[in-house]
Amino acid sequence: MKFLFGLLLILLGLFCDLAFADQTRQSGNAFLSPEMLKQQNDPSMNPISLWVDQGQELFKANCQECHQSVAAIAKAVVQFPKWGEDKSSPGKLINIEDQIASCYSKKTGKQSANDDANILSLSIFLSDAARGLKIHVQEPTDTKVKAQWQSQMNLGAQIYTQRQGRLNLSCTQCHDQRIGKNLRSEIISPAYVTGFPIYRQSWQAIGSLDRRLRACYSGVQASVPASASAELRALELFLKKRSEGMLWDGPSLRR
Ligand code: HEC
Ligand code: HEC
Repeated sequence: MKFLFGLLLILLGLFCDLAFADQTRQSGNAFLSPEMLKQQNDPSMNPISLWVDQGQELFKANCQECHQSVAAIAKAVVQFPKWGEDKSSPGKLINIEDQIASCYSKKTGKQSANDDANILSLSIFLSDAARGLKIHVQEPTDTKVKAQWQSQMNLGAQIYTQRQGRLNLSCTQCHDQRIGKNLRSEIISPAYVTGFPIYRQSWQAIGSLDRRLRACYSGVQASVPASASAELRALELFLKKRSEGMLWDGPSLRR
C-alpha cells in the first residue's frame, strides 16, 4: 500500500514535470561551468569530436549496408530502452548499446562488450546525429509485453526512491532534493538523461550511462549492479520516461 502510494506520488510528479516541461526541467549542460560549455561547443577543443569521427568510419564500414539513412536510425537514440524479443528468449529491456553490440556482432562475428571502444564510438556517432530530437520512449502495443514493460518501469521508480548504501541515500534525495548543491567538485543536476555517452574529465575517458549510474551507486557505497544488468535497464527506462519530451543534447562533456 505504502509502495503504491509512493508510486502514485512519483507519477503525479512526472505528470507535473511534463506539464511544466520547458520551464522547469534542465539538462546536465545547465550545470557546466562557462569554460566547459565553451569547450563542449567548440569541436576543435572537444575530445568527443574524435569519437564521433571514429564512429562515422565504423558506421560506414559495418552498418550502412542495412541502415542507409543515418537520420532514420538515429531516432532510436531517443526511443530506447525498448522491449527486445527474439524467438529464443522471453524478452527483456535492451538499451541502445545492447542493440548496437548485437548488430555489430552479427556483422563482424565478434562478441563485443557494451563498453568496448568500437561500440561506444558507434553509440556516440548516433547520439550526435540525434541532437535536437525529442525524447520519446516507445510503449509496447502488445498487452502482455506492455504489462512486463510496466513492471520494469515500476521497478525503476522503486530503485530511484529507495535509500541504499552505507550513506543510506536514494537517487531522489540527491537529484530532486539537492539540485544545485556542491558535492566534492561537482554540482548536483536533476539527472535527466539527455546527453549520453559522456566524456568525463575525472575519468579521462568516455563512458556510457551504465558507467555513470554505477558511479552513483558507488558514491553512496552501495553494492554496484553489473553493466547491462536488468536493474540498470529498469532504472534507465524510468529515467528516460522522466525525461520524456526534453530535447536530446548529443554526447556530452562532464566534470
Ligand atoms: C545485416 C543487416 C544489419 C546490419 C549490418 C546492421 N544492422 Fe542494425 N538492425 C538490423 C535489423 C534487422 C534491425 C531490427 C531489429 C533487430 O532485428 O535487431 C536493426 C536494428 C538496429 C537498431 C534499432 C533501430 C530501432 O529503431 O529500433 C539500431 C540502433 C541499429 N540496428 C544499429 C546498427 C549499427 C550501429 C550497426 C553497425 C554496427 C548495425 N545496426 C548493423 C540489421 C542490421
Ligand atoms: C550523493 C548524491 C547522489 C546520489 C544518491 C545519486 N547521485 Fe547521481 N549524480 C550525483 C552527482 C554529483 C553527479 C554528477 C553531477 C550531475 O550531473 O548531477 C551525478 C550524476 C548523475 C547522472 C548524470 C546526469 C548528467 O546529465 O550527466 C545521472 C543520470 C544520475 N546521476 C542518476 C542517479 C541515479 C539513478 C541514482 C540512484 C541509483 C543516483 N544518481 C544517485 C550524485 C548522486
